[in-house]
Amino acid sequence: MSGKLAIVITALAATVSALPTKELNARNGDQYNFYTGNGSDGAGWPDGANWTLWGDVWNANVPLLQQSCGWNGWGANNSGDEINAINDAIQQISGPAGLDPRFVLAVMMQESKGCVRVPTTNNGVTNPGLMQSHNGAGSCAGQNPCPRSQIFQMIQDGVTGTSSGAGLQQLLAQARNVVQDFGGGPSSRAYYAAARLYNSGSADYNNLDNGLGSTACYASDVANRLTGWTLAASQCRA
Ligand SMILES: *[C@@H]1O[C@H](CO)[C@@H](O)[C@H](O)[C@H]1NC(C)=O
Ligand SMILES: *[C@@H]1O[C@H](CO)[C@@H](O)[C@H](O)[C@H]1NC(C)=O
Ligand SMILES: *[C@@H]1O[C@H](CO)[C@@H](O)[C@H](O)[C@H]1NC(C)=O
Repeated sequence: MSGKLAIVITALAATVSALPTKELNARNGDQYNFYTGNGSDGAGWPDGANWTLWGDVWNANVPLLQQSCGWNGWGANNSGDEINAINDAIQQISGPAGLDPRFVLAVMMQESKGCVRVPTTNNGVTNPGLMQSHNGAGSCAGQNPCPRSQIFQMIQDGVTGTSSGAGLQQLLAQARNVVQDFGGGPSSRAYYAAARLYNSGSADYNNLDNGLGSTACYASDVANRLTGWTLAASQCRA
């Protein structure tokens, strides 16, 4: 990646700081494993075959989607219609972009806790909506109900990118070129590196817990979300 490109995508998708989610207990089997190193199964990270099935990872997150706006003081909780639209948007937009929908869900939970009314953040670049996208068009900050079209726009902005910056689709391609991991199913190392790129704008491919100024635990968190983690205490020590 050229230096110029690095500058363009720096400060991509800053994560809003969310309060801890207290009012729901972790379900059985919900656990957090701290992963270190380069994101490969050899380094102990989950392989694509270890990822939880889409239906199960979705169902594990529904109780959070129902309450995360309230928990974080971001307005009315997501309605059933809004939650259904999130599911439809993730499934309909991921496939054509060549992304596993579980990865889009994991990044969305990481960025916004799945609250459609999440505020826009700005650390030099405007990051709105469910994916805290790179100056994207989609947002429902302060808006209730959130129209289905806006929910689709928020997911689209994060997945396929915007005129100001790359989305997960471009970042996965970028990571695959570096780690040469095209895989059969989800080639997981490239996905974890793409998560790091989305959070930090660049990556230390041998140490995905190097936040490079952003969230150190981001890639480890995403790996845990892909194996069903939701509410168990984080063990990340990065
Ligand atoms: C990734 O890390 C593992 C464990 O340290 C190591 O065995 C492997 O060679 C590394 N892969 C690459 C491509 O650096
Ligand atoms: C992934 O699954 C394999 C086979 O069941 C298992 O040996 C390995 O420990 C799992 N890895 C993780 C990180 O859960
Ligand atoms: C959101 O849901 C939680 C859990 O049911 C509830 O405690 C809270 O009052 C709700 N918040 C809003 C703003 O509706």
